[in-house]
Amino acid sequence: MPEWLPGWMFHFAQWLDQTSFGHVMRESLYLFPVVETLHVFGIVSLVTAAFLLDLRLFGVGPMRGMPVDRVARWILPWVVAGFTVQLVTGILMFSAEATRSAVNSFFWYKMFMILGVGINALIFHFTVYKQVGKWNNARMAPIGARIYGVLSIVMWLGIITLGRWFSFHLT
Ligand code: HEM
Repeated sequence: MPEWLPGWMFHFAQWLDQTSFGHVMRESLYLFPVVETLHVFGIVSLVTAAFLLDLRLFGVGPMRGMPVDRVARWILPWVVAGFTVQLVTGILMFSAEATRSAVNSFFWYKMFMILGVGINALIFHFTVYKQVGKWNNARMAPIGARIYGVLSIVMWLGIITLGRWFSFHLT
């Protein structure tokens, strides 16, 4: 067990590996690949929707002519659906390989970056987006919104990269 991993997390992961649920996920020939494919579909829904808003904030992309609040409302169900798929499929895959995932630092970098993307969205929502009425139709959003957009794009790309690296470095 790596020294940075809390003991309770290590024991929880070991327990999860031994549950009948973990066994089924691990031993079925089709279950894991099907769930992993759904995980990739979830990324498409989530990240495409997030990028459409991020690009709109810079006055580019296919929705550049739309008011920002309309874009935000349009993407919301895709983000929620995509994130739900990610959470469910991610937990299913984790339960198949819980201990070796938990001791892999890339897994935790990815989880912290998911948390970061959520915090970035909350800050945007409760600060600059509160005033959206003032800049709704402006081609280029205010600097605060653009900082949110850049962080969002960078972090989503980071999460995908870390997800792939984590898969690749699973031992
Ligand atoms: C929220 C956005 C997320 C994104 C963008 C994302 C991205 C990725 C990517 C790109 C991969 C590699 C897929 C492949 O190699 O075929 C992956 C795999 C994986 N992800 Fe996620 N993920 C997300 C959320 C989660 C969550 C919430 C969990 C767990 C609670 C999770 C657990 C896993 C696991 C266990 C794997 C499989 C590793 C393997 O055996 O190959 N992911 N993810």
